Amino acid sequence: MTTKSKLLKLFEENRGVYLSGGEIAQDLCISRTAVWKAVKALQSDGYFIDAARNKGYCLSTQTDILSEQGIKKYLAPELSKSDIFVYQSISSTNTVLREKANSGAPEGCLVLANEQSSGKGRMGRSFYSPVGSGIYMSLLLRPKNCSGNDAVKITTLAAVAVCEAIESVSGEKAQIKWVNDVFVKGKKVCGILTEGSFSLENGALDYAVLGVGINLYPPADGFPRDISNTAGSVFGNVVSDAKNRMVAAFLKSFYSYKNSSSPTGYAQKYKERSLVIGKRVTLVSANAAREALVTDIDNDCRLIVQYDDGSVGCCSSGEIRVRL
Ligand code: BTN
Repeated sequence: MTTKSKLLKLFEENRGVYLSGGEIAQDLCISRTAVWKAVKALQSDGYFIDAARNKGYCLSTQTDILSEQGIKKYLAPELSKSDIFVYQSISSTNTVLREKANSGAPEGCLVLANEQSSGKGRMGRSFYSPVGSGIYMSLLLRPKNCSGNDAVKITTLAAVAVCEAIESVSGEKAQIKWVNDVFVKGKKVCGILTEGSFSLENGALDYAVLGVGINLYPPADGFPRDISNTAGSVFGNVVSDAKNRMVAAFLKSFYSYKNSSSPTGYAQKYKERSLVIGKRVTLVSANAAREALVTDIDNDCRLIVQYDDGSVGCCSSGEIRVRL
């Protein structure tokens, strides 16, 4: 761990508290000059650190910057062992994590970015990922004996965990538009893209990269015109430590369902948060669009629909259009 990382850990664990240069130097076994240099480095990364004569240094409680240390301070010891990589700007957290997975990274490895230059969305679309306004993260999962169908559950489980994280950090009610879009106040604030790597020998899932993009704040230049009517953000203004709290709350909720003895226990929560039950929707596939009424969501989070000719359908993946 570098001096800067150690100092950030100390500050994150003591937000709003003044720590004297001498105290810090003793704690980290470094000189006071080294403390001062590391403080300068953190300040140039954007951290609001006050330096006051006779008091010392203090990380402002208002700071909202993603960091490994900032996330881990909210995690229980069993969840804080995994590697967390935070990048300023990368192509896509899913792409970078896939590279790490192919080089043997273990389950739980988490990649985050403050900006993505080629953020990926579902159906080959892009995901708008401007600097500072969102949380762009990818989590590596290596489930044992997992079929393609089981893999679909990773996404639906993540949607429930995102809703719970948003509610715990913001107090706003979050709902799910099947299959994996999260809405707050009628606007999409989160998209999820799970990419899998399957074994050619037995067709089992080798690993899955769970990608989650949450629009936390309104982008500085607004949303692009093509999504400006549908996209929204969780908060209107910067909230103290919201990014680190949100990531930690997501991981906590995700793992509590994933490790639960009732693997479908989350399905009821998914259904309760559904925005589409009882709504008329258009089911969109590569070459067709069909109108239907959503009658239910089953224990595998599949959409149960009734077509206009009275026949019943069951969809486990795909996309729907709905007027909300
Ligand atoms: C969608 O709504 O179409 C899914 C969007 C998924 C976006 C996230 S952001 C983090 C991760 N990295 C990516 O390139 N995409 C996912």
